[in-house]
Formats: sequence, C-alpha cells, structure tokens
Amino acid sequence: MQAPSSAIAAVTHPDPYPYYRSLREVRPLFFDSGLGVWVASGQAAVSAALRHPSLRVRPLAEPVPMVLLGTATGEVFAHLVRMTDGTFHAEHKPEVERTARRWQLADVARAAEDAAASLAPELSANDVLTALPLETMARLLGVPESERDNTCRWALHFARGIAPGANAATLAQAHEAAEALMAQGRALGLNLAQSANRIAFMQQAIDATGGLLGHTALQLMQRPPLSALADESLDAMRVFVREVERYAAPIQNTRRFAAGPLLLLDQPIEEGQAVLLVLASANRDEAMNPQPESFDPRRESVRSIGFGEGPHACPGAQIAIEIVANGAREIRARGRFDALFSRSNGFRPLTNARVPVFED
Ligand code: HEM
Repeated sequence: MQAPSSAIAAVTHPDPYPYYRSLREVRPLFFDSGLGVWVASGQAAVSAALRHPSLRVRPLAEPVPMVLLGTATGEVFAHLVRMTDGTFHAEHKPEVERTARRWQLADVARAAEDAAASLAPELSANDVLTALPLETMARLLGVPESERDNTCRWALHFARGIAPGANAATLAQAHEAAEALMAQGRALGLNLAQSANRIAFMQQAIDATGGLLGHTALQLMQRPPLSALADESLDAMRVFVREVERYAAPIQNTRRFAAGPLLLLDQPIEEGQAVLLVLASANRDEAMNPQPESFDPRRESVRSIGFGEGPHACPGAQIAIEIVANGAREIRARGRFDALFSRSNGFRPLTNARVPVFED
C-alpha cells in the first residue's frame, strides 16, 4: 500500500500508522514544504506545542476567519473557548469546565441510552454517528423535546459552516443556525460567551464523538474475543472505548500558529508559521505507553493525548467516553449493532477528524 503523501492525506488513508511511525522515528518535527506547515508527530514535540504560550489556536492576524466576519456565525466563533487564547480563554474556560462537570456520568449514560434507543432503529450507521452525540448533548443541555430536532439541526449547520472551505449555501445555513441558537441562549438568560459555548457543547461533540463511536464499532466488529470481554460490563466497555481513543484517535491532528518567533524543542519557528500537531501519531509513541502499536484494552494504564492537553485540553473527554460506551451497549443490547456497522468503506473527507464511513 502506498504511504500517504502528507499528514493531512493520512487522516483518510486506510492505514496511516506506519507513515506516522516513520515520521516519529526520522523527523518528529519538520517543515513540510508541500503543506507549508511544521509537522509535529512525536509525543515530546506535540506536548510541548500544546503547552507553548506563543503557539495560538488562531493566526494572530485572523482571530475569526475572514469569511465569517460580520455574521452571526463569526460572532459565535469569536466567543468560543476552542478558538481563543489569552485573557478571554482564561476567563471563560473554567465556566465551560464547570458546566461539563455538572453532569454526573449517570446523567450522561441515561441521555446516551435514550438517544441510542430512539435513533438506532430509524437511522443509517453514518447518521447514528452524527446524531447520537448531538442528541445526547441536547438532552443534557435540557433542550425541550419539541425543540430538539431543530436545535440539533442548527448545531450541525453551525459546525459545517465553520469548517474551512464551506461553500456559500453552507455558510448561509450556518448564519441562520447561529442566530437561532443564540436566540435560545438569550431566552435562557445566558450572556454572549455562555450562549456561544453552549453551542460548542453540541458542535464540538459531533465529528469527534461520532468518530470515536465509529472506531469503537470497527474494533468491536474486528476483535470478537475482546468485544466479548467489553460486553461483560459498562466498566469493561468504557475501558475498551478508552483504548480505541488512544489507538485510533478520532481527532488525528490539530493546529497552532506562532504569535511570535519561538523555539519548539530547540527548533526555531518564525512568527506566523503554522504547526500541525499529529495527536494520532503521538498516541502511538513509545514515550506514552509500552507496545503502543498493539490494541490492548487490558493494558494496566493508558496514556493518551487524543483529547489534547494544556490550556485547551478537552473538557468533554469523560462525557464522550460515556456517550460512546453507553450508546454502543444500548445498540448491542437491541441486537442492531452487527447490521448497522458490518461494513465500512473509508473515512469522511475531513482534514483533522478520522470518521469511518459505513455501507448502508
Ligand atoms: C461530548 C463530546 C465532546 C465535547 C462536549 C467536547 C468539547 C470540547 C471543547 C469545548 C473544547 C475546547 C476546549 C478549549 O479550547 O479550551 C474541546 C477541545 C478538544 N477536544 Fe473535545 N469535546 C468532545 C469530544 C471529543 C472527542 C471524542 C475527542 C477526541 C477523542 C475530542 C478531542 C478534543 C481535542 C483534541 C481538543 C483540543 C483541541 C486543541 O487543543 O487544539 N473531543 N473539546
């Protein structure tokens, strides 16, 4: 099989892991002149970049993508903790974390089971991947049943609209969705930042958690002895999902932009240059876990950087694992799992999330 041509092509390649390994071994931090970005694939470089104060989540000159300026989507974007650094991020991240911690795992489990029970008999596998996290988050956020379909559709439109390269129709849908979702926030008495980050709880859940569910399905289908162990209890399924997250990172990469000249592991990076942090590769680094290339839910402890780390670490990690573990158990208990996820044929055409596509 031909190796992927770059760390971006790797996201949708049938098996990017030998390529990631060669990057880690030969050039764990290098400038890819084809992509025009630095590529960090070793755990040390990825971890240092995630924690470097001068590496920002947005280019200094373009805090909000030009195409979103002056729109409702742009206004939401400007208030997302995911998309900001510095004072705004430091002020608002703690509240996002408190909101995430407010939900007990049992609340998440119930919401995920209810969502799976109502969605899996109706939808295709690919639609379940998108709808399960969204519907679960809408339930957790207390969206009334009568508004749930619209709310989930708007959150999806918003997510598609802020993806790079969205076309005019997708952008128009996103603006309408952002207005409707912000009006919901106002009606709940939330301020601008709270309303925007309420949307993020749904938007951030979509591709990443859909990907985690998709990879969990692939591993459960491909490894009957280990899947039998996972079926023994909710705890065993959680352990399985955690190993899936490490082994087949749904968010394969994330980006940072140099706000000034800096040194990353002694490598000079110039102001304005971008760094692609390959989380999926760092997760297979021996510095993280022994025998990192083998899928082993029975390993004693598991270290992963797949949910990020440092100031932008994912506040939804436990929630995502709980959604996938309970959603998968619910669909398996209803005997729908094998029919839904029996055949996969590639990955969604995305540049950062690796989300399996299943045959209908
Ligand atoms: C219920 C599901 C989820 C929710 C609500 C959620 C929410 C969030 C939020 C709000 C942030 C921004 C934090 C910040 O910038 O300070 C974030 C970051 C992040 N999330 Fe999640 N997330 C979810 C699922 C996932 C999953 C399944 C993965 C992958 C396994 C993931 C990976 C990440 C990563 C890598 C970041 C950091 C990105 C960066 O630093 O560039 N998330 N998440």
